[in-house]
Amino acid sequence: MGPLAAAQLLALISLTVALDNGLLKTPPMGWMAWERFRCDVDCKDDPKNCISEVLFRDIADRLAEDGWKELGYEYVIIDDCWMSMQRDEHGRLQPEPSRFPGGIAKLARYIHDRELKLGIYADMGTHTCMGFPGTTLDKIEIDAQTFASWGVDYLKFDGCSSNPVEQMLGYPLMSKALNATGRPIAYSCSWPVYVGGLPPNVNYSLLGDICHLWRNYNDIQDSWDSVQDIIEWYSNNQDYLQPAAGPGRWNDPDMLIIGNFGLSVDQARSQMALWAIMAAPLIMSNDLRNLGNSARTILQNKVAIAINQDPLGIQGRRLLTEKTHIEVYWRPLSRSASAIVFLSRRTDMPYLYRTSLAKLNYDAGNYEAYDVFNGLTVTGLNATTEFTFSINPSGVVMWYVYPEQQSKQTEKSHYQHEKASHHTVL
Ligand SMILES: *[C@@H]1O[C@H](CO)[C@@H](O)[C@H](O)[C@H]1NC(C)=O
Ligand SMILES: *[C@@H]1O[C@H](CO)[C@@H](O)[C@H](O)[C@H]1NC(C)=O
Ligand SMILES: *[C@@H]1O[C@H](CO)[C@@H](O)[C@H](O)[C@H]1NC(C)=O
Repeated sequence: MGPLAAAQLLALISLTVALDNGLLKTPPMGWMAWERFRCDVDCKDDPKNCISEVLFRDIADRLAEDGWKELGYEYVIIDDCWMSMQRDEHGRLQPEPSRFPGGIAKLARYIHDRELKLGIYADMGTHTCMGFPGTTLDKIEIDAQTFASWGVDYLKFDGCSSNPVEQMLGYPLMSKALNATGRPIAYSCSWPVYVGGLPPNVNYSLLGDICHLWRNYNDIQDSWDSVQDIIEWYSNNQDYLQPAAGPGRWNDPDMLIIGNFGLSVDQARSQMALWAIMAAPLIMSNDLRNLGNSARTILQNKVAIAINQDPLGIQGRRLLTEKTHIEVYWRPLSRSASAIVFLSRRTDMPYLYRTSLAKLNYDAGNYEAYDVFNGLTVTGLNATTEFTFSINPSGVVMWYVYPEQQSKQTEKSHYQHEKASHHTVL
């Protein structure tokens, strides 16, 4: 099929497609297997960590019992490698029986019984990225029906082993097929990754119509280099990406790797802070059965989560890149509040940074700021007041900023307040 025919077909499909089913008005939160557990299918030698129903039940238990669910972490998402190499006699995908003996419907019930939601993975193409059966154009409808019949709540639709024309047809078709099941299913599209992530190859307006979220860029790996590379790409391309986001339509810079092996405590805070600023999905990929306290504290930070989940759903932006390798990020929030992240890309020592809210485009007036990671409140901030504070190498200082007047009425009941002590420069 030539590109022109494809475009005409697409126009027809688009007329009827809109996955506007009210899901994901704020970015999804939960857990996904890939970054930490990959395609470990060795259940003989690694029974606790292989991709099997045991792992997903364990994770559901942890989300339900360790305070995650109450904070909003609700999706348990299976990634690649869950399938049998063969479709069943009716042409339906089926899980690998040795690793999912109970089947996906039973796993979904287990997860729903804990008031959590189940996500699953499929691939627009002949094969998944790891070589399992793909969803070719003729299989889209049956796969959507199968997932709905199992009680699936979220689909990650990858794009290995397909070409741009098939993707242009397949991603909208799956949206339509999911809608036709009658079951509200959140739809995560990997489409942009496979065509470079940027216009004109990517039409973000169309994506927002058919998908709830989409992966724009490379998979995250367990390293600070990878986190920095992702932040850099999203910031360099923010003029395209930032306006694409909003309630029900999110850019996805990939999973939170906090709690694994690659990040220091400062770097873990940096990932949490930037993902909150970017209105990114907060989907962890770690071992919740063995999680250090500092990772837990960062991932369960209520104010960072509230910033991420702000109902306005406006993605933040990088405001400044200083010659000193300090970067400033900013996100507007509801109730006249905002969030600022000061990120140090330095590699030497804590850096004393001096600025004022007026320099960061704040209107004249008086403000207060809650320091998200140390729990202190900075009072008496006139927009013109210059202040100085210290940012660790590869770390952040993150502020939730609100007008002082508003603080007297409402903020004091929302957030724990302590008098500033370290911000005595004010
Ligand atoms: C299907 O799409 C229609 C139109 O956008 C929407 O009203 C409805 O909620 C959707 N249903 C599901 C299950 O996605
Ligand atoms: C992008 O998709 C929208 C539909 O959401 C369509 O109206 C518009 O023409 C498309 N833009 C381009 C450049 O193809
Ligand atoms: C804050 O600064 C403005 C000028 O930007 C000034 O008019 C105002 O009086 C200051 N307020 C306080 C409480 O210092």
